[in-house]
Amino acid sequence: MTLRRLSPCKINLLLNILGRRPDGFHELETIFHPVPLMDELELTRSDQVGIRLTCDLPELSVDGSNLVVRAAHLFFETAKILRPGIDLHLTKRIPLAAGLGGGSSNAAQTLLGLNTLYDEPLGAAQLDGLAATLGSDVNFFLQEGPALAVGRGEAVSSVESFPALSGQGLFLFHPGFGISTAWAFGELGRYPQALNGRAGRAADLEALLRHGSLRAAGQSFYNSLEAPALKKFPILGLYQDFLREQGAWAALMSGSGSTTFALFDSLPKARAVVQPFRERFGEVGWLQTVAL
Ligand code: C5P
Repeated sequence: MTLRRLSPCKINLLLNILGRRPDGFHELETIFHPVPLMDELELTRSDQVGIRLTCDLPELSVDGSNLVVRAAHLFFETAKILRPGIDLHLTKRIPLAAGLGGGSSNAAQTLLGLNTLYDEPLGAAQLDGLAATLGSDVNFFLQEGPALAVGRGEAVSSVESFPALSGQGLFLFHPGFGISTAWAFGELGRYPQALNGRAGRAADLEALLRHGSLRAAGQSFYNSLEAPALKKFPILGLYQDFLREQGAWAALMSGSGSTTFALFDSLPKARAVVQPFRERFGEVGWLQTVAL
């Protein structure tokens, strides 16, 4: 029996780092928003014992370091399924090292998919615990819809959809080079203001998105990790300036980058920027427009 699961990605409307923690991670507050661009994961039970992963993208390693394989191992160990046989196939559409949470989403879908395939041996709290050990963004993908998260990003509270964002046109651009999450966080020591953000920005932005104008909300999109990322890759700042000039009411780096996202009043408005963007920056990288 084969189970197919779609694996969406995310943007961070806000990523506010509050300080370094004794465990080496960083305390933060973030607003995650799902993006309907999907990888696909196929899970097939097999009589042949073992966890096997294949992927259409040759540059993605499919060994024990892959988050999907790590998630599967954790699942079987925790569910006490001793000699499992499973074939996993991943079709990637979300770029790697992009700040879009593709790998975390794949890991979450592995946990959810295996739990379905093996008749739900694990409860929600156990899945949540496994997700948190796999990575700080994985918990968000166990649920649907936007969410606020605190801690290192794993303490997720679902929030109601933002009606003001529904139907807005999202423009996404990945320039073709990635940024390591560990590098971006590690660099924060050089940017004390970005390292020690003021708590409460997430609540402020949430309130603006619910009750204020989008223009005002757009000014409050914020990402602490832009301090190191835009310093090393100034072109990321140029993308944002250009997208704002073209009418975006918000433009920001997502997560630890390198993807830039921008919001326009409608999908046609976002699509209308593709050609001028290409003319300005060339036919490179990965570009998508999608309605939220
Ligand atoms: O949790 P995740 O695997 O996504 O984290 C990757 C790296 O990013 C961590 O090893 C850590 O260096 C950094 N990180 C952090 N604080 C967070 C999340 C991630 O320092 N809240």
